[in-house]
Amino acid sequence: MVKGLATDLNKVARAIAGIMLVLAVAICINGFEPGPAWAQQGVDSAEVPLGNPTGGTVPGEVMGSSSDSDFWRAVRGGSAGNISIPDQNAATLVQSEGEAWRSFRNGPLTLYASWALLGMIVLLGIFYAIRGRIKIAHGRSGQTITRFAAVERFGHWMLASSFVVLALTGLNILYGRYTLKHVIGNEAFAFVTQVGKYMHNYLAFAFMAGLVMIFVMWVRHNLPDKTDIKWILQGGGIFSSKLHPPAKKFNAGQKVIFWLTILGGISLSLSGWQLLFPYTTHFFGETFAKVNLVFGTDLPVALSVLQEQQLATLWHSIMSVFMICVIIAHIYIGSVGMEGAFDAMGSGEVDLNWAKEHHSLWVEEHMQDVHDRAPDKNAPQPAE
Ligand code: HEM
Repeated sequence: MVKGLATDLNKVARAIAGIMLVLAVAICINGFEPGPAWAQQGVDSAEVPLGNPTGGTVPGEVMGSSSDSDFWRAVRGGSAGNISIPDQNAATLVQSEGEAWRSFRNGPLTLYASWALLGMIVLLGIFYAIRGRIKIAHGRSGQTITRFAAVERFGHWMLASSFVVLALTGLNILYGRYTLKHVIGNEAFAFVTQVGKYMHNYLAFAFMAGLVMIFVMWVRHNLPDKTDIKWILQGGGIFSSKLHPPAKKFNAGQKVIFWLTILGGISLSLSGWQLLFPYTTHFFGETFAKVNLVFGTDLPVALSVLQEQQLATLWHSIMSVFMICVIIAHIYIGSVGMEGAFDAMGSGEVDLNWAKEHHSLWVEEHMQDVHDRAPDKNAPQPAE
């Protein structure tokens, strides 16, 4: 019986040796074939550059000329192969920047952004506690003056309302899973986020249209001039209850808000466009090339389409949080922070005393204009 068992084992061993021999011959004839993952992606292993230019040769070359570990090291390092399918992203099996992107987005970005938002709210709270509501020093006069025409208010509110919805739906994408989800539950959060995503996508166009409108209507009033220097030197009279430095239609502080809105809005729009239409633009590579040219820096310009997308999401988030901080301050001063300010964008009519205190040069220009064209409906009107 023992002898029979030994014979059987002998037969199995010989069969295994035979199979191994056939495999070895087959491997020697065909060379090393890449693993199934490469095969599925249609990548030509011969085209994959190895991570170690001097190494990669296996002693005896039993398994072909490429070392397995160097081969996979190259894959891990993000080397792209050749593919025969249209999706070029598939040529890169492991994109390490993706991990760096994820850690930055879910780590420092969300953390510091939340500090920035909270910091701005606390600052405004402190400012309100110290300064209180900025009053009309001479009280309401009972006469009003037209500050913004209907078309100007339409442009402003189109920009403002779309921005507020974009901000809320965008913050939900950034923070919702840590906050809102725990308040309203998984299903409701999934629904809110999906609806919010559609709103975010489509309202972006209203935001861009509003941006173009206010730029065209207000750019000439926002060019810097010498009145701004005096306004800045007096700190906008922000801590004085009586003295407000002279200003034209927009003071230096408002000009800053205007240009931040325009430039920040353009930057948000372009990075948002890149996210709306993925893999169609190369804004970052092109911008980096220009920056290198002007400042002699060495920013990477040959960015893959995936890297472009990753940078777009990061930049879009950073810019949006920055803009939200700026606009929170703007909303504060345009509403609770200053008596009489909201009327300018509400009815379009502001009290004459408010106008004289905050925009004295504009009132003079306006009066002169009215005088030249008098009688005109834009002359100060008794308040109703
Ligand atoms: C949603 C709440 C908002 C309120 C209550 C508000 C209020 C106002 C008011 C009262 C003015 C006129 C100030 C004046 O008479 O001199 C104004 C101007 C302006 N607003 Fe808004 N706004 C809001 C949102 C926004 C948003 C979201 C943006 C941009 C994304 C924006 C951009 C501007 C710009 C560029 C000006 C002209 C420059 C300035 O006055 O600072 N506003 N806003």
